[in-house]
Amino acid sequence: MSTSRRTVLAGAAAAAATLTATGTAHAWSGRLPSRELFGQLADGTKVYRWTLANGGTRLKVLSYGGIVQSLEIPDRRGRHANVSLGFDNLADYVAKSPYFGALIGRYGNRIAKGRFTLDGHSYQLPLNDGPNSLHGGDRGFDKRVWDIEPFTHGSDVGLVLRYVSPDGEAGYPGTLRVTVTYTLTAGGEWRIDYAATTDRATVVNLTSHTYFQLAGEGSGGVHDHTLELAAARYTPVDSTLIPTGELATVARTPFDFRRAKAIGADLREPHPQIVYGKGIDHNFVLDKGLTARPEYALTVGEPASGRVMRMYTTEPGMQFYSGNFLDGTLEGTSGRLYRQGDGFCLESQHFPDSPNRPEFPTTVLRPGAVLRSTTVHAFSTR
Ligand code: BGC
Repeated sequence: MSTSRRTVLAGAAAAAATLTATGTAHAWSGRLPSRELFGQLADGTKVYRWTLANGGTRLKVLSYGGIVQSLEIPDRRGRHANVSLGFDNLADYVAKSPYFGALIGRYGNRIAKGRFTLDGHSYQLPLNDGPNSLHGGDRGFDKRVWDIEPFTHGSDVGLVLRYVSPDGEAGYPGTLRVTVTYTLTAGGEWRIDYAATTDRATVVNLTSHTYFQLAGEGSGGVHDHTLELAAARYTPVDSTLIPTGELATVARTPFDFRRAKAIGADLREPHPQIVYGKGIDHNFVLDKGLTARPEYALTVGEPASGRVMRMYTTEPGMQFYSGNFLDGTLEGTSGRLYRQGDGFCLESQHFPDSPNRPEFPTTVLRPGAVLRSTTVHAFSTR
């Protein structure tokens, strides 16, 4: 371990000591978030790690990628654990992160062949996932440095993250001004508000790519977590994980989570869609549809710790990714290797490949309009 890495870790330990949980579920109150140096990029840009805590929840957020590097919540006995996968150093985030905790843009998930046409113009995006463009291409919002401003507002605490994506960046038209607000409420909810404007017609699909393991990061597989997902339909994909256009019923398939079911229950079913995804890696069509206010989407529970996470969103879709491509080569925050199924993602979003699917809810943003999207993670225990 390098000296600088040790210094960063020592700094982190000191910061943690001032905020140490008392063992009760509501140990933290909403003080203004503070920052410490986390590392430096090759071009000399300093990357900071912000710590914000409120209610029972504490988040650590990097200015690189807006990455949630740690998310601590209590179990049913009030013991906190970091329930998000990540790294303890910047170099690993830069070199090999599968989007751990990151903000995703300009377009979450895949665009077929990295191509789309808008108002008669054709655009070609970088191909970084076989024949397709994934999560904004090879240098998406997860690899950009965000301007961060802390705030307190009433009993809320939070961070405002800003990034201006120049016209043509990663192949997308229009200067896109993006603001993402992470808020922790006094009840320990983590809320994400996205806003974006453009000066030319473009396509946008913003999300957050946290990998959860509610028993604690690095503690093994997530297959015994239960998931209840309010979605009667999902978007089946081809072998390159591009939607076929069908909105298929989940009934009598491994994709039926309408009643709580263990994540791992049907992952070994020889269903062609499970084969394509190497597990579940699919967009679910939320029953509530696109809404002006965040509405209920899902509940995840981890039986041993009793931790529960509910998600509410304005978005019409939810990508459920069961950590299929983790392969035991990445060493996580606490020094353990992540193997297949050691974390899962639930990414609120518009549907993949919408720019090529006029029948899907539109992802087109035009000058004068403001894209707004909100997703709330509410934590509790049982
Ligand atoms: C995608 C997966 C991809 C993962 C990490 C998810 O959002 O659906 O196919 O492997 O992100 O890159």
